[in-house]
Amino acid sequence: KKVVLAYSGGLDTSIILKWLQTEYGCEVVTFTADLGQGEELEPARAKAEMLGVSKVYIEDLREEFVRDFVFPMFRANALYEGLYLLGTSIARPLISKRLVEIAAAEGADAVAHGATGKGNDQVRFELAAYALNPDIKVIAPWRLWDLTSRTRLLEFAEQNQIPVAKDKRGEAPFSVDANLLHTSSEGKVLENPAEEAPEYVLQRSVPVEQAPNEPEYVEVTFEKGDAVAINGEAMSPATILTKLNELGGKHGIGVLDLVENRFVGMKSRGIYETPGGTLLLEAHRGIEQITLDSGAGHLKDSIMPRYAELIYNGFWFSPEREMLQALIDKSQEHVSGTVRLKLYKGSARTVARWSDHSLYSEAHVTFEDDAGAYDQQDAAGFIQLNALRLKLLAARNRRLKG
Ligand code: ARG
Ligand code: SIN
Repeated sequence: KKVVLAYSGGLDTSIILKWLQTEYGCEVVTFTADLGQGEELEPARAKAEMLGVSKVYIEDLREEFVRDFVFPMFRANALYEGLYLLGTSIARPLISKRLVEIAAAEGADAVAHGATGKGNDQVRFELAAYALNPDIKVIAPWRLWDLTSRTRLLEFAEQNQIPVAKDKRGEAPFSVDANLLHTSSEGKVLENPAEEAPEYVLQRSVPVEQAPNEPEYVEVTFEKGDAVAINGEAMSPATILTKLNELGGKHGIGVLDLVENRFVGMKSRGIYETPGGTLLLEAHRGIEQITLDSGAGHLKDSIMPRYAELIYNGFWFSPEREMLQALIDKSQEHVSGTVRLKLYKGSARTVARWSDHSLYSEAHVTFEDDAGAYDQQDAAGFIQLNALRLKLLAARNRRLKG
């Protein structure tokens, strides 16, 4: 039996690795992706080799992640439950895709992941894997083993010569998932939603009190809904997001404290840092303001919550997500141009936008003489016909009240 494990190099997935070999009797291949989590990956290779895996895959997926997952999602301005920019949710389908591809290349019949049986990530990893290979087997050790406490995990690590970093011996303060789009922190000191999260939770943004006292401007240029340049300089998708992260983080932008509904039914509290994504969302909305037709814009906005929920729930590889994506992508044909944002103390505001594709007509909207561009008398009939049924309703109600 051969299994491909999504391996971070951390303690938990190292224990899973050993458990798969010893308790489950599998040959293990590891897969570690650089999604911009900001960690060295070579230590993961060394550790996997030391733990006796038959093959190690380490891949830099940052460009693919941003180009094929993050940017398509941002065309929709996707927010789960009004606030969450889906930083973890959008990374899982890509990891699963590579797990399944590597399994095929290695002749493995199973993949394994380190998500617990309580969360969303298990659902996302597995729905994506089954959508891409209906015969794949998925092993989720957290749902199978009896290592249900920190003490037992550490005992197992000890027995199996798995190195445990000093700071991991005690209770880990909280659980972190990071990639180019966000850092999420959940659990432990964050579990009581009635208590403010300690400042040390923040990993990539300064507390807003420590943000610079001077505002900073940044210009983001879009082509067909995707960011292509910053301050006039063309850059690759991952470079753009990296740059926006630096700017947003420096000004304390994009920190969210959220209690959300997990797909499995429970509520959970998380602290999210999405500095670059917050700038990108604001700028994308800014360019849509002048380039999107109202009918097109309102329609795509109306399906956004559904689209976001599909991604949150793990249905990236589903016909309905692809159908909504086709609608969203179609809406972006003219979403090209540049937005200037003003960054200051935790906020990113659009202060200017311009585009060759603009629908904004100063000739029509001006408060000054419009030289016949618009006939104000047209509005009278427009209002009368729209008011007709409201008048009939009001008359009926007055009649019934007597
Ligand atoms: N609650 C967020 C989500 O479901 C973040 C999950 C974080 N995952 C993790 N393994 N720490 O998308
Ligand atoms: C986990 O349970 O592995 C992390 C949290 C989540 O998936 O929602």
